Amino acid sequence: MGATVSLNEASRPLDVLGIGFGPSNLALAIALREAGREGGPDLACRFLERQDGFVWHGNMLLDGSRMQISFLKDLVSMRDPTSPYSFLNYLHVHGRLHDFINLRTFYPTRREFNDYLAWVAGHFSDRCDYGEEVVALEPDVQDGRVHRLRVRARNRAGRERAWLARNVVIGVGATPRIPDAFTGALTDARVIHSSTYLAATETLARAGRVAVIGFGQSAAEIFLDLHARGVAVDLIARSPAMRPADSSPFVNQIFDPAYTDYHYHRPAGERDHILREFQNTNYAVVDPELIETVYDLFYQQKVERVDRHRLLPGHEVREVRLISGADGVQLDLLSLDDGERRIRRYGGVVLATGYHRQQHHRLLEPLTPWLAGAWQTGEGVRRDYRLATTDACTAGVFLQGCCEPTHGLSDTLLSVLPIRAREITAALAAPYSGAGAPERRTAAHAF
Ligand SMILES: Cc1cc2nc3c(=O)[nH]c(=O)nc-3n(C[C@H](O)[C@H](O)[C@H](O)COP(=O)(O)OP(=O)(O)OC[C@H]3O[C@@H](n4cnc5c(N)ncnc54)[C@H](O)[C@@H]3O)c2cc1C
Ligand SMILES: NC(=O)c1ccc[n+]([C@@H]2O[C@H](COP(=O)([O-])OP(=O)(O)OC[C@H]3O[C@@H](n4cnc5c(N)ncnc54)[C@H](OP(=O)(O)O)[C@@H]3O)[C@@H](O)[C@H]2O)c1
Repeated sequence: MGATVSLNEASRPLDVLGIGFGPSNLALAIALREAGREGGPDLACRFLERQDGFVWHGNMLLDGSRMQISFLKDLVSMRDPTSPYSFLNYLHVHGRLHDFINLRTFYPTRREFNDYLAWVAGHFSDRCDYGEEVVALEPDVQDGRVHRLRVRARNRAGRERAWLARNVVIGVGATPRIPDAFTGALTDARVIHSSTYLAATETLARAGRVAVIGFGQSAAEIFLDLHARGVAVDLIARSPAMRPADSSPFVNQIFDPAYTDYHYHRPAGERDHILREFQNTNYAVVDPELIETVYDLFYQQKVERVDRHRLLPGHEVREVRLISGADGVQLDLLSLDDGERRIRRYGGVVLATGYHRQQHHRLLEPLTPWLAGAWQTGEGVRRDYRLATTDACTAGVFLQGCCEPTHGLSDTLLSVLPIRAREITAALAAPYSGAGAPERRTAAHAF
């Protein structure tokens, strides 16, 4: 280990270390605290978060953007509607319960929900180290066995610290999906991914015409936001049309907690089929009301005989050239309809091209000899989200938010957070219950 690494290992190893402090691990922090208060073991735990404070997809907190899930699917209510960490209690504490009821909606703005999540996170600030990016997860090998894992994190100043933990829960969310043609282009400030959108609005507002790539929820929201800022936009996508997200009630049952069991116990081929069958609940689709708004905007342009925004469905970007000066981002577009090539020039490009969920692969690589099953393909993840390990490894690794192949489409969303947190908490607590279990921890180490 390098000389710049300061070790926290002298202190007692943690029972649980959470990597990332987004909604998934925040829900786990609540479940662990509540389990401790209800007579379960008080597990010593900490969370490491690379952001400087709690923010939920901060660069997409756009004016008027709303939740895509009922506020009843908050961090706790589906497990315990009486929990003090519910959205309703947040409203009550902030004196807005009656005002919210008058809105007659299940779908708060994303800004309000972010404020709710940050308020809950504030109750756990003594459990989370912000500004710490986890850079490595390693086995602590003693006599050929692994009972603990070493987690190394780096802060903005470059200082490294390490923690030892019996269990690690990875909840690091997603990383931007960048189309091949744009590999390398993101080093140019004029080309961004939607995950950094708000930070780039000043540059984009000066850009003249901007291309937004994709026909998903992010693309539609960013298109309308740029329109409100007076920016001319070309909306470009491979798909022939912008399609609606299916959130009708029977379909929505796939997001019920009970469906996780169903999905998990299907054979792999059937699970893939289910994911494809219900893809249009979440990916490359747009809230139907938002589609109406976008359509209306294009229609009104026709009425006014202006050609400010342009819609280019059925087009793929084949090549990108970056030239200095105004309109210097040159896109070579292939029409998937007639095979023609078209060159278009823009002052800026927003890639609203979605996300990958593979960051855990890099973290898990050093543990490969201790993991049983093909974890890279999603196999080897147990129903309780714990990775299967070899007999020589008793340390636990749990995954939150990257088990879609095995646990279903709800896994990347907020849909099952309180239930999943309870299941992981039960798995973490299991070694401490029953005969021969270690003594119940004292409050000094507890939540
Ligand atoms: C714009 C947008 C809007 C969305 N809206 C909804 C919605 O309305 N309803 C819904 O159900 N789902 C929605 N989603 C899906 C989203 O995945 C979930 O809402 C939720 O964010 C998942 O929580 P998470 O904690 O698993 O991941 P995240 O919220 O992504 O949190 C992961 C955390 O880990 C941190 N992290 C990452 N790597 C490291 C590291 N190496 N070290 C330390 N920390 C790290 C990140 O900074 C982040 O804070 C939305 C997604 C996006 C992009
Ligand atoms: N208000 C909100 O709550 C809100 C706001 C934004 C996002 N979200 C959520 O965030 C998640 C992600 O949404 P998203 O819109 O960011 O991503 P997404 O749904 O995955 O959509 C990505 C879009 O990019 C296109 N695309 C992907 N790869 C491409 C490539 N190589 N070249 C060209 N086009 C490509 C896809 O089209 P193809 O079909 O051609 O692949 C699709 O149209 C969803 O769960 C969504 O609901 C929620």
